[in-house]
Amino acid sequence: MAKLNIIGVGPGSADYVTPAARKAVTQADVVIGAQRSLDLFTSEVKGEKIVLTAKNLYESLKHAAESFKKGKSVALLSTGDPGFSGLLHTVLESGLFNASEIHVVPGVSSIQACAAHLNISWDNARLFTFHDEVSDEQREKLISAVKCGRTILLLPNSRGFTPKDIASFLIELDTDKETPVYICENITLENEKVTATTLGKVVGQGFGSLCVMVIKQAN
Ligand SMILES: C[S@@+](CC[C@H](N)C(=O)[O-])C[C@H]1O[C@@H](n2cnc3c(N)ncnc32)[C@H](O)[C@@H]1O
Repeated sequence: MAKLNIIGVGPGSADYVTPAARKAVTQADVVIGAQRSLDLFTSEVKGEKIVLTAKNLYESLKHAAESFKKGKSVALLSTGDPGFSGLLHTVLESGLFNASEIHVVPGVSSIQACAAHLNISWDNARLFTFHDEVSDEQREKLISAVKCGRTILLLPNSRGFTPKDIASFLIELDTDKETPVYICENITLENEKVTATTLGKVVGQGFGSLCVMVIKQAN
């Protein structure tokens, strides 16, 4: 039976691609994903392969929907986990698919990999993504979580809300400059780098776009 899978492929290293993800890709007639995701499945892709970019996103999803309607199995690759700042939201919002037809194969999120690297138990942590949108509402939720003393794991926005911008924003609203911060760049990849710093110091530092910012507090 044809399947419409949105597959989490982990934060980057092939070590974090699950056997379930590999099986679903092997069985797909059409595989769609960013180049860095497709590179994780060199031997498994048997069917049609489409490199997903910001420019061809809608066209590619349309092709996925049409292929599925024709009875083909489709694999949409999403970095990390599809449910956190991933393709699941985009697919559900596109209006091209019936939600009941979608099957999600979970993956290891960059947030999870980062929490594991830093030995953070994230039961009480707050998660934020600013990757696609930086709204006033989200900023307010962030400041409120900081004021409540929560540990925060967040995806910055490389164009408008970088770690530097976030630190400036929080300091302007009276957050302690000495608050511990970790910036986890390229987590699980060969060029992985974890910087232990403070909110005050982040204001003067630049980081790569593939990063998770952790604001470490007591809870
Ligand atoms: C479109 S979001 C995808 C998030 C993904 N669904 C997840 O669960 O990790 C892309 C953002 O995730 C973060 N990210 C993804 N992979 C990463 C990695 N290996 N190291 C650090 N951050 C990563 C970066 O903030 C990047 O801009």
